[in-house]
Amino acid sequence: MKKTTRTIREAKGKTPVVCITAYDAVTARIADAGGVDLLLVGDSVGNVVLGFETTVPVTPAMMAHHIGAVARAKPEALIVGDIPFGVAHDDWSKLLAVCADFLRAGAEAVKLEGGAEIAPTIRRLVDAGVPVMGHIGLQPQQVLALGGYRKFGKQEQEQDKLLADARAVAEAGAFCVVAEMVDAGLAQKMCAAVEVPIIGIGSGAHCDGQILVIHDLLGLSGKYPSFAKPRVQLEKLGAEAVAGWAAEVRGDARKVQD
Ligand code: KIV
Repeated sequence: MKKTTRTIREAKGKTPVVCITAYDAVTARIADAGGVDLLLVGDSVGNVVLGFETTVPVTPAMMAHHIGAVARAKPEALIVGDIPFGVAHDDWSKLLAVCADFLRAGAEAVKLEGGAEIAPTIRRLVDAGVPVMGHIGLQPQQVLALGGYRKFGKQEQEQDKLLADARAVAEAGAFCVVAEMVDAGLAQKMCAAVEVPIIGIGSGAHCDGQILVIHDLLGLSGKYPSFAKPRVQLEKLGAEAVAGWAAEVRGDARKVQD
């Protein structure tokens, strides 16, 4: 059955929400066959698929291209398109135009990085009919300003800010909120503090749901964050398959022609 923003919101307190990234029709098909609830066409496409160092170079046009590919797989999972660097802080009509392009390409919601400071923008988008997934804690689009990736919410002062962020984003109308690299105890407090699902990534086991980058799960990333254990080594298996075929071609060309 097709998953909607309502399915995700109403799962809170009943069943964990399972989310994963997808960047094209193949990863969408694999993830959907695995029975996930939500496919995020993440701007992680930049570093995971396109070879950039960070998500910062990703543009709305790149995102729309990948959203279209995921949508053409016609998954049952809800499709969420990530608003890339800079766009949510640009003027309102440009942001709305990007959201409209994403929805036309097949996204059924968008994701915005940011805490309390972005809540008025989330409210305005929701009022305009654009469903929004929030994203607090580590915001990878801030990597240049942060000078690297780190865990959030270890100090009390930062904990108060993050709880306020979770509340502000949820109260602005987000149907769920990603909490990335948040201290596990704090993530649990967030789940108790807001009415929509908190979807953790590197934030402990006790969130309302979890999200992973699909390439990390499939062993296609080369290096892996500590919280993501590959369940299969597809890169290694793929290289072995190619090497086997190449050896066959080089060793017995006639056999291959037959
Ligand atoms: O872009 C992305 O893949 C993400 C997830 C890791 C949450 O934002």
